[in-house]
Amino acid sequence: MLTREAVEAGLATRAVGRPLEVHGSVGSTNDLARQAARGGAPEGFAVLADEQTAGRGRLGRRWLSPPGVNLYCSVVLRPDIPARLAPQLTLLGGVAVAVAALAEGLLPTLKWPNDLLLADRKAAGVLAELELGPGGGVGFVILGLGLNLNLQPADLPPELAAEATSFAAVLGRPVDRAAVARRLLEALDAWLDRYRRHGFAPVREAWSRLGALSGRRLAVAVGGEPAGQPGGGEITEVVEGIARGLGDDGALLLDTPSGLRAILSGEVTVLKDVR
Ligand code: BTN
Repeated sequence: MLTREAVEAGLATRAVGRPLEVHGSVGSTNDLARQAARGGAPEGFAVLADEQTAGRGRLGRRWLSPPGVNLYCSVVLRPDIPARLAPQLTLLGGVAVAVAALAEGLLPTLKWPNDLLLADRKAAGVLAELELGPGGGVGFVILGLGLNLNLQPADLPPELAAEATSFAAVLGRPVDRAAVARRLLEALDAWLDRYRRHGFAPVREAWSRLGALSGRRLAVAVGGEPAGQPGGGEITEVVEGIARGLGDDGALLLDTPSGLRAILSGEVTVLKDVR
């Protein structure tokens, strides 16, 4: 069982995980963090759970959240940015998860906008949910991170078996969940501090070093959910083109027959490798 004491032992953060709540079974850690944020919880307030009974992913999808094996984590953020830039926090979350994976000796890649891949299969995802403030700016963002750690491939439902994996499945050994949780909170703390002081440029650079899509041919369903709101927004069109990295604001740059497009929200399908 994941405990607060185990995660907090030696936790070297300024804001993230201060305070920290660790629960047994919850509906969704994003919902608990949102309630806390509405009640005034500070930036960095973090909720972890051993199990989620209503874990959710982007586009209203279910996030598989069995007990005892994975990490389900949500952090309250109060960034001083316009709402349209909130998707940058999804990318920042991906970088932090990648740091935690690298510390385990893994070689992660990132797939825009929110997937961490190990050996080309999804092992973690980020869900940033935004609540607007009274003036229309960002009130707060809940950054939800789900990491498949000790999940066994045999426990994946058939529809995920070909596309999902876990840290343990790739490493061939179990990982210490509390240690990974601590590294994740520390990486978030460091990257949020950098983001506050230097803006998106360092996040963009780190993300781009790990990005898996540049030069690949994609079909992108544009839209879907502004800043990670589940079910919010419509898919407006599907665009095909070659991925050309990230724009200065975190948009996916896509070289299409009608010119370079910058896409801030969407769902990517890799069509074929043209590298
Ligand atoms: C995705 O890849 O679609 C995003 C998955 C995000 C899952 C995490 S688990 C912790 C937090 N609580 C949730 O209900 N979802 C996020």
